[in-house]
Amino acid sequence: MLQMKRIEEAKAFIQARTDHFDPACAVILGSGLGNFANSIQVDYVLPYSEIPHFKPCNVAGHAGNLVFGRVGSVRVVCQQGRFHFYEGHAREDLIFPVRVMAALGAKALVVTNAAGGINSSFKVGDMMVIRDHINHMGTNPLIGENEDALGPRFQDMTYAYPENLRTLLYAEAKKLEITLKEGVYLAVTGPCYETPAEIRMYRLWGADAVGMSTVPEVIAANHCGLKVLGISCITNAAAGMEDKPLDHKEVQEVTARLAQQFEKLVHHWIQAWAKTSN
Ligand code: HPA
Repeated sequence: MLQMKRIEEAKAFIQARTDHFDPACAVILGSGLGNFANSIQVDYVLPYSEIPHFKPCNVAGHAGNLVFGRVGSVRVVCQQGRFHFYEGHAREDLIFPVRVMAALGAKALVVTNAAGGINSSFKVGDMMVIRDHINHMGTNPLIGENEDALGPRFQDMTYAYPENLRTLLYAEAKKLEITLKEGVYLAVTGPCYETPAEIRMYRLWGADAVGMSTVPEVIAANHCGLKVLGISCITNAAAGMEDKPLDHKEVQEVTARLAQQFEKLVHHWIQAWAKTSN
């Protein structure tokens, strides 16, 4: 079946269930950050299992809902729980929610994740604004026949994370007295964590943080015309930087600690962005 037809079917179902909710902004919530969806004025919650062509979500710390609501007067849709390549999803299934959120009307995407810090100046608990990324997943979500109605065959990625969206985040962070780091996010498929030798190599390549998500969605978002803001929560020093093993529980604990600050920052950004985009 054509992706366009699948997207239209999901869109029609969602519109029927949400009184034609038309989000301005989409948010993808990473590991341990799903509670953000409860910090908005929630209007509708749709479990992935009910939405046509959505895959179920099976990762600890990821709920599996599309949550529709408002931040101030700005309509947002949150992807509470995301899909990862390591779960074995097909490329088109992984990015399906992004395409649906764009089809519903979203113009911007805030994408968030938990990541290991490679840059030695980063501390656990830092937030890193993603300036650019390195796709080291060994695959690309746009592989396959291109449907021109969705986007171009050869997608430009020069401005994958537009500077004006990042500038706006710095302005809001300053008001809230939150210090932000900035850097390059490198994506691997996982599910195993990296080896210390890999981390040393990624540092030489110019990566500041590493994780197992985000890049497929950002590629899809650029392909369908969404403007992307990316934020990584640095949950641990990357493998080999400290003399201890990595652990998913620690990742979740750190994001849970950061959640409130993160929520405030994203709320502020969404409202500031909505003002500039009107
Ligand atoms: N590596 C990969 N993914 C991650 C990490 C990491 O160190 N921390 C959180 N997600």
